[in-house]
Amino acid sequence: MALQGKHLVLGVTGGVAAYKAAVLLRQLQRAGASVQVVMTEAATRFVTPVTFQALSGQPVCVDLWDARFANNMAHIELSRAADAILVAPASADFLARLAQGQADDLLSALALARTCPLLVAPAMNRQMWENPATRRNVKTLRQDGVLCLGPAAGVQACGEAGEGRMWEPEDLLESLAAFFTPKVLAGRRVLMTAGPTFEAIDPVRGITNLSSGRMGYAIARAAARAGAAVTLVSGPVALETPLGVERISVCSALEMHQAVMERAGQAEVFIGVAAVADYRVATAAGHKLKKDAGAPPQILLTPNPDILAEVAALPQPPFCVGFAAESENLDAYAEAKRRKKHIPLIVGNLIQDGFGGAQNRVILFDDAGRHPLPAAPKDHLARQLIEHIAPLLA
Ligand code: C5P
Repeated sequence: MALQGKHLVLGVTGGVAAYKAAVLLRQLQRAGASVQVVMTEAATRFVTPVTFQALSGQPVCVDLWDARFANNMAHIELSRAADAILVAPASADFLARLAQGQADDLLSALALARTCPLLVAPAMNRQMWENPATRRNVKTLRQDGVLCLGPAAGVQACGEAGEGRMWEPEDLLESLAAFFTPKVLAGRRVLMTAGPTFEAIDPVRGITNLSSGRMGYAIARAAARAGAAVTLVSGPVALETPLGVERISVCSALEMHQAVMERAGQAEVFIGVAAVADYRVATAAGHKLKKDAGAPPQILLTPNPDILAEVAALPQPPFCVGFAAESENLDAYAEAKRRKKHIPLIVGNLIQDGFGGAQNRVILFDDAGRHPLPAAPKDHLARQLIEHIAPLLA
C-alpha cells in the first residue's frame, strides 16, 4: 500500500475542523503510516493534545522549546524524520505565516526547515478564503511547491455556506496515497467496466449477480493514483466513486455496451472487470408480472454483446485487459478466454477465492506466461495489476 511504512508529520492548526484531524490520524495509521502530531497553540484550544497523543501513541509536540529533544532542535529533528508533512486543517493565519516564511512556532519552523514535501488542507470561513490576502498566500505557496488539498464547498461551522470547508479525512487520505504512488500511468486514458449488470424482467425484478464491484473500483482507484485519466462505466453497486475518477452509472449490459463503445476510441487501456450478464430477457414486461396470472411465466433469454471482445476487435484497439472468474480449471479456461477474445492480458481468479469479498488471489496470464500474485486485499492486487500493465503499453 502507498502509505505503508511512511512516516508523516500531521500538523494541526487552530480551526473547528481540528476535530476531523483526529479521524484523519486514525485513517493514516490504519493505512500503515506512523504519525507524529504537531499542533499550534491555537489548535490546542479546539482539541486537546491528549486526544492526539492517545490516538497516535506518541507525545504531541507544540512547543518550539521542547526540552524532550536532546539537542533542543525539535523543528530539525521532526522535519528530517518525515516522508511528508500534512497540515490539516491549515488556518488562514497559518497559510499566511507559511507564505511569509515565518518560523515563530514549532509547526511553522519545522515547515521552513523541511527537506520533505509539504501538503496543506485549508479550512476557514468562506470570506477568509476569498480574501485577496489569502488568495495571494495560497498562490505563493503553490509557487513554492506546496501541494494544496481543497478546500471544499458546503455548509460551514459558522452557519454560512461556501468554499472553505476542509476536505473530508477520506479524501485527504486518498490524495496522500496518490501523492506517494509512482505515476506509471501518467496521462494515460483508461476506460473500465465494473460491478454487475441488471437485466430487467419487469419494472421491479431482474437478473443480476453477486459482483460487489470492489475489484473494479480498486483498480480504478489504483489507475487514478498512478496518474491515469480514468472513466469507470459501472453497474449498480454500493460503492463510493474513487477520487478523481469519472463514473458513468449504467444498469443493463446493453447500456454498459453503449457507454463503453462511445468512449473506446479515445482509450489507451480498456479493463473489463464487470460481471456482465451473458443473457438478457428478450422482452422485459412493461408492467409488474402478476403471480396469479395463470401458468408460471416463461422467460425467454437472448445473448448480450461481449463488450470486451468488441473493444478488442476495434481496428485500433486500446490495450485490453479481461477478467476470468472460474470455479475450476482456472489456467486452461483463462488462457482459452484470452485467445478467444484476442486480448493481451487476462486476470484469472477462482470464484471461491474472492468473488464479492474484500480479498482475492489472482493469476495474470499474458504472452510471457502466468504470473501468480499472492492472496491480498483487492487494493493491493489492483496496484500490482497497474504496475504489470504499465510496461506492457507500447
Ligand atoms: O466470457 P466471460 O464472461 O467469461 O469473460 C469475462 C471477461 O469478459 C470479463 O473481463 C468481462 O468484463 C468481459 N465481458 C464483457 N462482456 C460480456 C461478457 C464478459 O465485457 N458480455
